[in-house]
Amino acid sequence: MEQAIWTMSVLNRFQPQGFKQVNKYLPGVYYVPSHTCEISPWYAIGARGKRLVKTFSSFKPILGTAITSTSTASRLDLEGETIDYIFTDPPFGENIYYADLNYLIEVWHRVTTEPTPEAIIDRFKKKALPEYQRLMQKCFAEYYRVLKPGRWMTVVFSNSRASVWNAIQVALQQAGFVVAEVTALDKILGSYRQVTSATAVKQDLVISAYKPNGGLEQRLGERGGAPESAWDFVQTHLRQLSVSKSKNGVLEFVVERDPRRIYDRMVAWFVRHDVPVPLSTEEFLDGLRTRFPVRDGMVFLPEQVTEYDRKRAQVAQAPQVEMFVADERSAIDWLIDFLRKRPSTYQEIHPEFMTQLGAGWKKHETRPELSALLEDNFLRYDASSDVPSQIHNYLSTNYHDLRNLEKSDPRLKAKGKDRWYTPDPGKAQDLEQKREKTLLKEFEAYRAAPGRRLKEFRLEALRAGFRSAWSAKDFKTIISIAQKVPEEALQEDEKLLFWYDSALTRMEASV
Ligand SMILES: C[S@@+](CC[C@H](N)C(=O)[O-])C[C@H]1O[C@@H](n2cnc3c(N)ncnc32)[C@H](O)[C@@H]1O
Repeated sequence: MEQAIWTMSVLNRFQPQGFKQVNKYLPGVYYVPSHTCEISPWYAIGARGKRLVKTFSSFKPILGTAITSTSTASRLDLEGETIDYIFTDPPFGENIYYADLNYLIEVWHRVTTEPTPEAIIDRFKKKALPEYQRLMQKCFAEYYRVLKPGRWMTVVFSNSRASVWNAIQVALQQAGFVVAEVTALDKILGSYRQVTSATAVKQDLVISAYKPNGGLEQRLGERGGAPESAWDFVQTHLRQLSVSKSKNGVLEFVVERDPRRIYDRMVAWFVRHDVPVPLSTEEFLDGLRTRFPVRDGMVFLPEQVTEYDRKRAQVAQAPQVEMFVADERSAIDWLIDFLRKRPSTYQEIHPEFMTQLGAGWKKHETRPELSALLEDNFLRYDASSDVPSQIHNYLSTNYHDLRNLEKSDPRLKAKGKDRWYTPDPGKAQDLEQKREKTLLKEFEAYRAAPGRRLKEFRLEALRAGFRSAWSAKDFKTIISIAQKVPEEALQEDEKLLFWYDSALTRMEASV
């Protein structure tokens, strides 16, 4: 009934081809057309009113089972740990100005929405992305408070901008939630703004996040930042993840089971609890492989892996990981995948690598040289010793004439010479340490660089620098360097944003 008010106003457009002339206003905005067509209430509500009366006369409300309240979600009138499940469909940045749009109807009730806590991006209200993120975080923190431990929240999200997406992710993690899955939701009809706005996605995403069950936190409190705490987190986290996903009979890669993703979730959780991260990336990845079964690049609990193996046996193909090279980190990941399958010489890798460096490359990220990436992250076989098993396995499976040869066989050594391959875990840790040093040196250079803005940089150096500054509790450095980075680059990188936001929170807390 209330929606009919729009039709009864000068916002209603006259459309010669429109038959009844009802609901002809432009949704989502206050737009007064050159040809208006105000409709009388009787005409606008007539048929609809009769249908409503009919519907509600047979409607039997059950009392005492539901509560409806209208207030900001950042201040809920509920006891802590009382809610079993939360489903939330928050605003997605700047697409719809809810409070403003509600005004027309609300003034009839003489109750208007208080716009201050409204979680939107609106430059007229001086709410940019960081303000939106803060407002969302307040709501998520309140959700976290009222949710029972170990329970879930579903967040629907529809905005294609990476920066808004990152703001939501950071807000969720800062509030204490652990993200367990992100999936696409098929909605048949796109909303008005989804169809018309250049920045909105056609498809909605659904984030499933949980509040850890309390036991984990308690154990972390007792043990502190020991490696056991990290493995405890992984153990608890893996239990929450889908064992397998399939679409049209094809098995899909469960991204949250990717070792690096699990590492990121672990780091976020430690930082959130202000506990130093006990393991380096490589130590973590190595420990993960020895402690948990891995299948098709995904990590499982022993009790989950049998179920996965059963599913896997029913399909011909292993799930494919989608690789999209956009920065140094993803370029390294692409190389790891490539060289694991096929240890190759520089000449073989180069053309394949170049096809990956396309238009999707991030704007401010330095383009790395392939030779430098190989030097820093991989090993080259120079034929001075036995052929390493990575190359041996590859050659003996792919070349007839090289089968069943010893690792010291000259034919094998000649064929293996100058091939780059992925290091063993021990060697990988050495390389990581060396690389970390180089990255931190580069970070120092950013710190020393005069002038306000950094135009081009290595995201990996910034991430390493932030990580190290964080463990030294040097929040000032994180904030000052982050302020040198162009805003969109900061907002488009979930990790940088996370460190920056965490540093801001700590600084504010100490004031
Ligand atoms: C995407 S819409 C939800 C649409 C709803 N699911 C539906 O189908 O009609 C987001 C809603 O969040 C509300 N909102 C904005 N800031 C809020 C806050 N701080 N607390 C609670 N709700 C808020 C907006 O008024 C808007 O109604």
